[in-house]
Amino acid sequence: MPTLKTSVLGIEFENPFLLASAPPTALVESIDKAFEMGWGGAVLKTITPDNLEMTETSPRYETMKSKGKVIGFQNIELLSHKTVQYWCDGIKYLKKKHPNKVIIASIMAPVERDAWQNLVQTLNDTPIDAYELNFSCPHGMPERNIGMAIGTSAEISILITSWVKSIANKPVFVKLTPNVTDITWIAKAVEKAGCDGFAAINTVQGFMGVNLDTLEPNLCIDGYSTYGGCSGEIVKPIGFKCVAQLRQCSDLPILGIGGITNWQDTAQYIALGSDAVQICTEVMINGYSIINNLKSGLLNYLETKGMENLKELKNIAIPKITSHEKLNKKNHLYPNIDNEKCGKCGKCVNICSESEYNALKKTESCIEVDKNVCAGCSLCSHVCPQNAITMRKV
Ligand SMILES: Cc1cc2nc3c(=O)[nH]c(=O)nc-3n(C[C@H](O)[C@H](O)[C@H](O)COP(=O)(O)O)c2cc1C
Repeated sequence: MPTLKTSVLGIEFENPFLLASAPPTALVESIDKAFEMGWGGAVLKTITPDNLEMTETSPRYETMKSKGKVIGFQNIELLSHKTVQYWCDGIKYLKKKHPNKVIIASIMAPVERDAWQNLVQTLNDTPIDAYELNFSCPHGMPERNIGMAIGTSAEISILITSWVKSIANKPVFVKLTPNVTDITWIAKAVEKAGCDGFAAINTVQGFMGVNLDTLEPNLCIDGYSTYGGCSGEIVKPIGFKCVAQLRQCSDLPILGIGGITNWQDTAQYIALGSDAVQICTEVMINGYSIINNLKSGLLNYLETKGMENLKELKNIAIPKITSHEKLNKKNHLYPNIDNEKCGKCGKCVNICSESEYNALKKTESCIEVDKNVCAGCSLCSHVCPQNAITMRKV
């Protein structure tokens, strides 16, 4: 029987599912409940020095839906509203009650050595398993020269990582922002400065549009808005890319984050180099109870693949990611149309003719492919409403 148990930097995980730093980890009693329900660990809502002011807007969330389902989320929320003392007491309480659960303290402070080191000094006396440096919040904080303002500067990221590493008595993860041209640039910098692992990604900076009736922003605070952090399914490809790029540039552990809604997403994050994962938006939409399907689905998957543990899955897809230059340009595929499934609607014919090639023709009885014209791009297979087209070698 395979196991979901894993270890990262000597920290034992009963399963790879952590709650990401966010509203589901903003209260000790909620985290207590999540642990009872089977989560492997929690990254606490980002803790800051008590004198850092945190005044929230109302509302502060907006969603993007497809057929009634939330596929994207945007927030302009700030950090933990609780004091450092609240967290110190809470961590001790949680660890005593749940010694096998992983607790990671997410922290952020102004760019001053004392501010970061005082926070770490205080948390060093608690039984946390690791630190996560939040260099990546994309709203509110950058205006105050912290959050993503840190994680988009290699120089400042190095400075803070070395301040923390010089006194931290636990491993230090750096939570990176995807809002950069190349995430490996900052990753390599903080690795040199001594960090022990990466967490990626934090939210992707975005804007949820304009209400066409009121002509005000969709996320509207008394008539105004600001750019926020997007999360949920819409950011998953960005998370996958960032994690794979981190794995290609470093051997350090990675906590994969971004758009995870099920065990399949988790398995892919692990195949792309993650050691464990963190989830926020899906928990905010559907609650802590999603953990049951996450665990059973991933365990079944390992079993069907004949794998004994997550280490066998980790990194498995990485050798398959290369440069465009090295991809086989002679691998020409053609659409194969399943005539039983095809509804003869002609959508594929129309789209092909309007998107460069005009390689498909509708006849009385079927759709024909002109192989001399078809470029094998695969667009027809993606737009077919009946899923009747597969791409094949001839
Ligand atoms: C409402 C909200 C609040 C968040 N607060 C924090 C935070 O305090 N610290 C932090 O590091 N990340 C924070 N995040 C980012 C999440 O931890 C996570 O990186 C991001 O949402 C992507 O994961 P997801 O797609 O599973 O939500 C927040 C996200 C949301 C939606």
